[in-house]
Amino acid sequence: MDKLVIEGGGRLSGEIPVSGAKNAALPILCASLLSAEPIALSNVPELHDIHTMLKLLRQMGVTATRDGDTVTIGAQHISRPEAPYDLVKTMRASILVLGPLLARCGEARVSLPGGCAIGARPVDQHVKGLQAMGAQISVEHGYLVAKAARLKGGARIVTDMITVTGTENLMMAAVLADGETILENAAREPEVGDLANLLVKMGARIDGIGSDRLVIQGVERLHGAEHRVIPDRIEAGTFLCAAAATMGDIVLRHVTPGLLDAVLEKLRETGAAVSAGDDWIRVAMQRRPKAVSFRTSEYPAFPTDMQAQFMALNSVAEGTSQVVETIFENRFMHVQELTRLGANIAVEGNTAVVTGVPRLSGATVMATDLRASASLVLAGLVADGQTTIDRIYHLDRGYDRMEAKLCAAGASVRRVGARQGDLA
Ligand code: EPU
Repeated sequence: MDKLVIEGGGRLSGEIPVSGAKNAALPILCASLLSAEPIALSNVPELHDIHTMLKLLRQMGVTATRDGDTVTIGAQHISRPEAPYDLVKTMRASILVLGPLLARCGEARVSLPGGCAIGARPVDQHVKGLQAMGAQISVEHGYLVAKAARLKGGARIVTDMITVTGTENLMMAAVLADGETILENAAREPEVGDLANLLVKMGARIDGIGSDRLVIQGVERLHGAEHRVIPDRIEAGTFLCAAAATMGDIVLRHVTPGLLDAVLEKLRETGAAVSAGDDWIRVAMQRRPKAVSFRTSEYPAFPTDMQAQFMALNSVAEGTSQVVETIFENRFMHVQELTRLGANIAVEGNTAVVTGVPRLSGATVMATDLRASASLVLAGLVADGQTTIDRIYHLDRGYDRMEAKLCAAGASVRRVGARQGDLA
């Protein structure tokens, strides 16, 4: 198992290119199941989760070829409309094939994802919505088994909470349903909008894109399309946090600043100078950051996927901050590991109180989930001495060549294989 070895203490400076968004690319790859014609996607990030999704699609008899950042999917024939347990257990986003398979093939068999490190994460809203469109769904041997001759329009679906992949699954199902479907309380995350924009290019009829009310007129079939995946706002936010924490000065390229308003606002509060143009953002920090309090919420508010990274920043900031996590019930697992690096954090329920310390000190820590891993990298960059992060396969799921990008900005981050790591 690979590890990252970080020599802390340096300031980040220079330019970092941002890759395409993982959480847009994953549903978009699933949307290619909706058409018999090819879908060509560019700006697809090089990530483990993307490999897993391509493997899943190929297992269904779909062709998937990659050339640089372009992926072309041909779903002319779907021979096996199924997502097996061994893939779903490594990537919950596999549930995103449920809606498209049901809409295109009239049947789907998808392993139930089960809980995960950050929370229980049920898929009841996905199921409820598909049932409202006329699907018969049962649980058999750990699998959701869904059937529908053709999904029916006429439903007005109000989800109990705002769910990103739930909205995406239901939207992908509704575009081929017979009639109109209304999705109320829809997620407004930019990744949902990116998926909707691709579906429209494929011939779908969707009104209200970017709002919490999507009105979808089903069509008989969808055609092929080309699409460029939006930039990854969470990858971008992670590097910006790293710049502020290390008192650095970096420029991000290939970003959409407008998708990061809440994050940029918090960075300004830390005392960083933030400037932006059409497709770049610069963050420059001259002093020790000031602690910032925040609560996570749905877009356009502060994203849960940036909570851990800001917690690392707060750990070395001046002052005390309060961080409230409202989306997932167990997303503080990085706290234990940050504490091993010398952070002062007290957790009570869904609130963490972080008292900034002047320095962290390097140690061996363990990555527990994707964004927790990113927070440990940030902490390692500011800690004195060497930090070794174990189990970085979590990081590889969602960050495209993170250590190479950080090294190009002056950081000292080295990947070692388990054997080398043992010797190091
Ligand atoms: N929920 C239910 N029932 C459902 C669906 C959701 O109770 O049927 C609950 C969840 O348990 C959670 C809340 O609703 O407490 C919101 O979950 P949501 O469904 O929005 O999360 P998700 O769609 O599973 C996506 C991202 C996550 C990101 C969240 C929140 C993808 C592939 N994943 O997950 O990304 O944290 O939205 O923005 O888009 C990550 O990239 O590290 C990551 C975890």
